[in-house]
Amino acid sequence: MKTLPGFRDFYPGDCARRNYILTTWREAARRHGFVEYDGPVLESSELYQKKSGGELVGQLFDFLDKGDRPVALRPEMTPTLARMVAARERDFKKPLKWFSVPQFFRYEKPQRGRGREFYQLNADILGESAASADAELIALVVDVLRDFGFTEQDFVVRLSSRTAWQKFFAGAGGPADREDEFFQIVDKAERIPPEKTDEALAGLGVAGLTAESVLAFVRDGEPGELAPVLENLKARGLGDYVEIDYAIVRGLAYYTGIVFEVFDRSKKERALAGGGRYDRLLHLMSDGKVDLPALGFGMGDIVLENLIDDVPAARERRDAWMAKQRACDVYLVIAKETERLAAVALVQTLRDTGLRVDFPLTETKVGKQFQAAEQLGAEVAVVVGDEWPEVKVKILATREEATVPNSGLADWLRTRQKEA
Ligand code: HAM
Repeated sequence: MKTLPGFRDFYPGDCARRNYILTTWREAARRHGFVEYDGPVLESSELYQKKSGGELVGQLFDFLDKGDRPVALRPEMTPTLARMVAARERDFKKPLKWFSVPQFFRYEKPQRGRGREFYQLNADILGESAASADAELIALVVDVLRDFGFTEQDFVVRLSSRTAWQKFFAGAGGPADREDEFFQIVDKAERIPPEKTDEALAGLGVAGLTAESVLAFVRDGEPGELAPVLENLKARGLGDYVEIDYAIVRGLAYYTGIVFEVFDRSKKERALAGGGRYDRLLHLMSDGKVDLPALGFGMGDIVLENLIDDVPAARERRDAWMAKQRACDVYLVIAKETERLAAVALVQTLRDTGLRVDFPLTETKVGKQFQAAEQLGAEVAVVVGDEWPEVKVKILATREEATVPNSGLADWLRTRQKEA
């Protein structure tokens, strides 16, 4: 039996690659002062139908639970985060800088860069409306990707503003209640032929709104509210990572102001990350009781991993990290089977000191045991043999050897580790 389409098995090598991504995400977010939170994997379907909107609603993994409640596996974090913060808003000092690395489920057509299950780094700032918060969030996006070994040659943050698009739509006589439909059309305009965009725009019934006028705005739009964000990022030395690009509007319904997406420069991949301001969502979520400006982004693991595979510097950085994640520090070679119980006692003592220790579970040829030690990446092999209660220690990389009393082995290994 195979996995379901769009789902992945994580064999140890895959899991190590995934851990590299999740660990790098966590370290970067913490370095920027974000704290980790999480929520439930299963939520009421209504949460997404009402709050996410757009394409996402058609992509829900939803069903009735045994109590006939309509539920969905989480496809994104933002509605959960907004619900959590709105419920206990007073308990937290503002601004909140929170991050999470959840697994999500979306019923999309599996293809390059898209699965039906994936991980995301989510980072959000709540309770701050100043442009400095937008810059702080985008600086994190950039730094995370730099941590993977990418440079401004590899990716770009494309920055846009829904406020600017709102003004454009209102200026053309577009009614506010059809704004969301208009955003969905602009969101796709880059990917479909202009005739199709014209057709979709005609459906809005706003005279003068054409693919040409939309594309002209994309070309000529002024920086407007984006200017202070760009200035802040330039002051951090990150200006080369960001560009204004009004082709971005984002597909989700809750965005209100600045929005952005991150793409590889070669434009081979789908978006690496996307986010923006959603200043009205907490208000909506709390039926008007809580009013907190908010902004955030999500960065998926699948596109990111494709890009790591494609960029040599990023690949080397990952390989170096993986090489350091050896499965064990010490492999205990049992050369004299009658000393097995003494050997397992020694394994326990070494593990109690925090060392990663492995050994053969049944009688095994000594040569095979040394092979296993090499395969596991052990630094040291300890041979329990005829010299017991002394043991022979072999440093596998240099072939150095020493004979040490078993009772002093843990200290000997520690001292060696400290000196190395
Ligand atoms: P999103 O644009 O739907 O935004 O997703 C963000 C990123 O998640 C995408 O750029 C992509 O890397 C990844 N992603 C999305 N769907 C899939 C998929 N089916 N397979 C693989 N990767 C995928 C959001 O989810 C917003 N909630 C982000 C946000 C947080 N906005 C504010 N705070």
